[in-house]
Amino acid sequence: MNLRDLYINFFVSKNHVQIPSSPVVPENDPSVLFNTAGMQPLIPYLKGEKHPLGTRLCNYQKCIRTNDLDEVGDKTHHTFFEMLGNWSLGDYFKKDSINYSFEFLTKVLKIPTTKLAVSVFKGNKLVEADKESALIWEELGISKGHIAYLDENNNWWPNMELTGPCGPDTEIFYFRSNEEVPEIFDPEDDRWVEIWNNVFMQYIHNIDNTFTPLPQKNVDTGMGLERVQAILDGVLDNYESRIWKDIIKVIEEVSNKTYESNKVSMRIIADHIRTAVFISADYASIKPSNTDQGYILRRLIRRAIRHAKKLNIDINSNWEEKIALAIIKQYQKYYKELEENKQVVLNVLKDEKNKFNKTLEKGLKEFDKIISNLENNTINKDLAFKLYDTYGFPIELTIELANDHNLKVDLEGFKEKFKAHQELSRTASVGKFKGGLSSQGEKETKYHTATHLLNAALKKVIGNDVHQKGSNITSERMRFDFSCDHKLTDEEKKKVESLVNEWINMDLEVSKEEMPKEKAIEIGAEHQFIEKYPDIVTVYKIGDVSLEICGGPHVKSTKCLGHFKIKKEEASSAGVRRIKGILDDD
Ligand code: SER
Repeated sequence: MNLRDLYINFFVSKNHVQIPSSPVVPENDPSVLFNTAGMQPLIPYLKGEKHPLGTRLCNYQKCIRTNDLDEVGDKTHHTFFEMLGNWSLGDYFKKDSINYSFEFLTKVLKIPTTKLAVSVFKGNKLVEADKESALIWEELGISKGHIAYLDENNNWWPNMELTGPCGPDTEIFYFRSNEEVPEIFDPEDDRWVEIWNNVFMQYIHNIDNTFTPLPQKNVDTGMGLERVQAILDGVLDNYESRIWKDIIKVIEEVSNKTYESNKVSMRIIADHIRTAVFISADYASIKPSNTDQGYILRRLIRRAIRHAKKLNIDINSNWEEKIALAIIKQYQKYYKELEENKQVVLNVLKDEKNKFNKTLEKGLKEFDKIISNLENNTINKDLAFKLYDTYGFPIELTIELANDHNLKVDLEGFKEKFKAHQELSRTASVGKFKGGLSSQGEKETKYHTATHLLNAALKKVIGNDVHQKGSNITSERMRFDFSCDHKLTDEEKKKVESLVNEWINMDLEVSKEEMPKEKAIEIGAEHQFIEKYPDIVTVYKIGDVSLEICGGPHVKSTKCLGHFKIKKEEASSAGVRRIKGILDDD
């Protein structure tokens, strides 16, 4: 049976309810470009809000982590991965959590206990050493030598700096080697690979840097599907597991080369096209661009193309389509958006390929020219910018090419130039893709409620076929995408603005109610990704003006929102407009 099914069946047999995988692009969490962990969409519930499906949940979640995108090419790194997770929201705690993990690994997956080791938290000023977890592991048969006490850099999740729910964890390692298992577990020995992380999430790290206990003690676990699959398949290279086999085979076919002698480029192509497929199939409709998620998508496709060239693949053939179709086939049973959006995905890949292909050849020539004329071993900011601006080379590509030739790039200078050209810092290159958790502060909560009012006002002014297509909130502003076939006139914008302010001034009550998804649709609640909601949803109501399915959080009544202003209205993509708005406190 498939690992995902084994996992879900196991936790369902332990009274957990399966929740759907959330989209890879999180809604309303501006601190991250992508969902980086299964718990991310569950933050409000970990903080104490009641989850409509109960206190025991499990799922498989699509995750994207791009902070070590450039490491892809070795045996274990991926930009996309799936996380198998189970959660207790104030229900069971350490004993059951550890027992479930152990039972699943040793009884269901039949992994020998002797090949497992664990780490537990050694304690700090805030929390004492986790002897309790160590004892539970010992009682289950993990030898003392295979239990390591580690500090907060290892056994605290997410880490001491990030705000939001957090806590000590116990991590489970597997000895991935054919050599003899050492008696003492050394976490520095990279034959031990971490496969599962059980976080005992019992604190909230506040913005003022204090830690306070959460209203409930939670468990958040995450197991890496790719790693465990490689273990089950008995391979030391993730890309040789059954997940990748068929995909690598297609790359061998289109390049007429073997994996054995071209591992790095084939891994990069396989990984990057897979992630690009998942991003472009997501309901958030991301397209390659020079900012945010679109920029990551662009980088992934362009880097895959460059490696395809290295393998002498004919870039003009439909090689990328063949690889994408193998990926879609591999995953469509579990992620139906891949099948549904197949054409969109293929178009995104092809369009971006054509765009890049037009300049790639010339850009590579330019690059060769640049390096043959270099006076020192650094590509200066003007040259790096030229490669970006004229030849569409993401800066990371220039850096990678430079590395191949033992050269440096003046990255700081490039960034300054880049800023000066007004493309500004919200792109991935300036650090927003580190991953992490946002805190839903007071201001973000206000903006969240304001988007509901804006959505309702747009419907009144433009028509009922206006629907939300996306939103993004920071403490400074809101961005709201909606379906609309024309540029808003000044009059329309004014009307929308006044309506939102009128409702704010009426101090309308914001209330919420849980109900079955079908009922929410029946009563006309606005929604964005209906396929992705659980069977029971929360509907937020603002006076009589707005009804929306939403996870929250929201203000209690509207008066505190202040004054709403539209700062900008522009095209987002075909048939979708974007409004940037702010709330003034006065
Ligand atoms: N949130 C934890 C992690 O990402 C456990 O799921 O490792």
